[in-house]
Amino acid sequence: MKTAENFDLPAPYRRPRRLRATPAMRALVSETRVNPRQLIYPVFVGEGLSEPQPIASMPGQFRHSEESFKAILDQAVQAGIGGVMLFGVPDDVSKDAQGSAAWDANGVLNRAISIASARVGDELVVMADTCLDEFTSHGHCGVLRDDGVVDNDATLELYAAQAVAQARAGAAVVSPSGMMDGQVAAIRAALDGEGFEDRAILAYSAKFASAFYGPFREAVSSTLQGDRKTYQQDPGNHREALLEAELDIEEGTDMVMVKPAGYYLDVLADVAALSPVPVAAYQVSGEYAMIHAAAEKGWIDLERTVSESLTSIVRAGADMVLTYFALNRNPQTS
Ligand code: PBG
Repeated sequence: MKTAENFDLPAPYRRPRRLRATPAMRALVSETRVNPRQLIYPVFVGEGLSEPQPIASMPGQFRHSEESFKAILDQAVQAGIGGVMLFGVPDDVSKDAQGSAAWDANGVLNRAISIASARVGDELVVMADTCLDEFTSHGHCGVLRDDGVVDNDATLELYAAQAVAQARAGAAVVSPSGMMDGQVAAIRAALDGEGFEDRAILAYSAKFASAFYGPFREAVSSTLQGDRKTYQQDPGNHREALLEAELDIEEGTDMVMVKPAGYYLDVLADVAALSPVPVAAYQVSGEYAMIHAAAEKGWIDLERTVSESLTSIVRAGADMVLTYFALNRNPQTS
């Protein structure tokens, strides 16, 4: 008879399967648990809509009317998630070269922030995307110089104005996503200057120029021609991502983010290792769309894939995850 000795297993025998034997044992030794409180739901609010409009490439997601937005906020409270990240989708007539609807108190995003902070501000952390791309006629994240390049420092002033308008509307967290140099410092100074020392910044620190944002561009009716490669990062650059996170931390950000999430887990793990502040990861529109598309074909199981994808992002080091799955999936079921 073959015994363990015949196989040269060291004694005492290491048998990791002992701890996998029953659901109760597996639950006891589970290293990574995803709590709904860690999840942030991104929500799109469209200007002047009377009905929510479905986003074709993001099944189950909508550009919301102000009414349907209120219902979503209530669902988010019910689901016990941590927060919402708000995006505004203005009408074409509200867009201009500067993106001035971004700091207009009556602009679509600032109105949405006011509604959310009044309705659910005690139960959820109300966050807003601080960026101009939804509001500019050309679709870039900043203002353009005559030669068509995005003007970094001129853009910072506009981000500062937008962040102050968002704080005034009631945002607890502003979230600069434009990848301009110095954006955290500019926004912190502007908020403090207006008496909003209490509002936090979640910086999209390492945001890559990713093809996975494709469905989002549909969601916000993006007018962008070309790409964002002069401000978002090259997907292959790891060292640079750490520098970006370090700079944002030096500039005083309260939280950092890596985006996209699932294909950047190495970057996420290393940012989590160096960061003294909480780390977020954004499971972006393309990640959501791919999982849905494969599940619709019956090629993967939706529920289990969602759970595994979120568990992996948390295992890699995310303290919180922005995900379109936050509302209708309970990540603890797997
Ligand atoms: C820019 C912004 C983008 C996303 C979040 N903020 C798009 C971009 O950089 O082109 C993408 C989110 C997603 O794909 O889910 N305001």
